[in-house]
Amino acid sequence: MKKVCSNILLIAMPFLVLSLFSSCSNNEADKPGYEFMPDMYRSPSLEIYSSNTFFKDSLNARPSVEGTMPRGFVAFYYDNTLEDYLLAGKELKNPFENTEDNIEKGKQLYQMFCAHCHGKNGDGKGSITHPVYGAIPSYADDVMIRRTGENMNDLAAGNIYHAIYYGLNAMGPHNTQINDTERWLITMYVQELQKGN
Ligand code: HEC
Repeated sequence: MKKVCSNILLIAMPFLVLSLFSSCSNNEADKPGYEFMPDMYRSPSLEIYSSNTFFKDSLNARPSVEGTMPRGFVAFYYDNTLEDYLLAGKELKNPFENTEDNIEKGKQLYQMFCAHCHGKNGDGKGSITHPVYGAIPSYADDVMIRRTGENMNDLAAGNIYHAIYYGLNAMGPHNTQINDTERWLITMYVQELQKGN
């Protein structure tokens, strides 16, 4: 019996030694051995910031399909033209109810995004005094605004929203840093300031 065992050991020994050596490699991380389900270890998807030969431009980070919108995004279907500015003024109503709570929210946003130019009370006297921003009109003025010939205190909600969205001359657009809800809440507060209170 002993002999049989030692014979088996003798035959098995070379295989054992061989398998021991074959499991050694300088680059272990690259050779994980036999992979039962390779797709589970090595994802066929492309690494986002590396390049490839799969797409013509070799970029893995693909642009979104045209017209893609993030969840919760509200599109604004008016262009940055005088015609659409006037149309927005005619057609759009503030979807939020004029409540104290909403006005307070609008005020806080206004103070964050607009007051440094337009002034705390909307009088056009903010802390920014650079000559480029010298012509900031007061919301409550009878002063005619250049693009329509209407008075500042006549601006409708849709006009104000359009102005926030696209900006005007020295005033930059605020469509990326303020979302739809915030734009309407600010508009509501600007309409309070138009009353000159
Ligand atoms: C960098 C300074 C600056 C900031 C910030 C700014 N504005 Fe203005 N805004 C101006 C200037 C300058 C004008 C006058 C533009 C003109 O008539 O050429 C103006 C004009 C306006 C008008 C009149 C637009 C029209 O139809 O004639 C409104 C309404 C207005 N701003 C609202 C806002 C609101 C609301 C915010 C905050 C979200 C804001 N602005 C932020 C500088 C600014």
